[in-house]
Amino acid sequence: MSVENKKTLEAYDKTANIYLANSIEHDRLDMKKARKKQEKLWQFIEESFKNLPVGSDIIEIGSADGVNAKHLKELGYNITASDVAEAFLEALKEQGLNPVKFNVLEDEFKKKYFGVLCWRVFVHFTREDAIKVLGKIYDALEDNGILIFNAINRETRTVDSEWVDFPGEYHMGIDRYYNYYTKEELDEIISHTKYKIEHFHKEGGDEKNKWLVYVLKK
Ligand SMILES: C[S@@+](CC[C@H](N)C(=O)[O-])C[C@H]1O[C@@H](n2cnc3c(N)ncnc32)[C@H](O)[C@@H]1O
Repeated sequence: MSVENKKTLEAYDKTANIYLANSIEHDRLDMKKARKKQEKLWQFIEESFKNLPVGSDIIEIGSADGVNAKHLKELGYNITASDVAEAFLEALKEQGLNPVKFNVLEDEFKKKYFGVLCWRVFVHFTREDAIKVLGKIYDALEDNGILIFNAINRETRTVDSEWVDFPGEYHMGIDRYYNYYTKEELDEIISHTKYKIEHFHKEGGDEKNKWLVYVLKK
C-alpha cells in the first residue's frame, strides 16, 4: 500500500463526515442536475451489469455514502458495500446496507464476485496501487465477471498527481492524493492483465476534468 493512499485514507478517516455533508449540500444546490447525473450513472451501471443474473454477488469498493450500493440492492443484486472510514461504514448502515470494512490494497477478498464497482476510487491510487488493485480484483472475479471503474484524466493538466482539497462537493478541509491518468496509460496497464475491455467512454463537466470510464470483463 502506498504512503499516498495510506495518508489519503487517514484524511478520510478524520473528515468523512464533512465529505458526506458536503455531497448532500452540493446536490441541494441543483437537485434536478444531481438527480439527472445520478440516474445517468445508474443506467450505465445497470447496462454494464445486465448479463449478471438478479441475485448475483457484487461488491462495491469505496462505497462512501452508499447511494450506488443501495440502488444495486434495490435492483435485486446481493450487494456488499464496503469502505474504510468508520463514518462511511455508519452511513452505509443507515442506508440499510450491511457493510464490511475493506481496504482493497491491504485486505484479501473473502469470496468471489460476479461484479465489482469501484467508482471514483482509483483517483487515490498510485500507478503501482492501481496495478495491484486491478490484479486483486481480477482474481476475485468469477469467470465473465465485470469490473466497472473510473479515473480522472490528465490530458490538460500540468501535473501527474497532486495533494489537493477540491472546493464544493469534494471539499473536506484536508488534502488527499489525486493521481491523474491518460487513456493511453490506463490502456497500457490493462494490456498487461487478462481483462477484456468491454466498454470505454470519457465523461465529465469540463475539459480539465474528464473521467475515464472502463468496463472490464474477466
Ligand atoms: C471520492 S470518494 C468516492 C466515493 C463513492 N464511490 C462515490 O463515487 O461517491 C473515494 C472513496 O475511495 C475510498 N478509498 C480510497 N482508498 C481506498 C482503499 N485502499 N480501499 C478501499 N477504499 C478506498 C475512500 O474511503 C472513499 O470512500
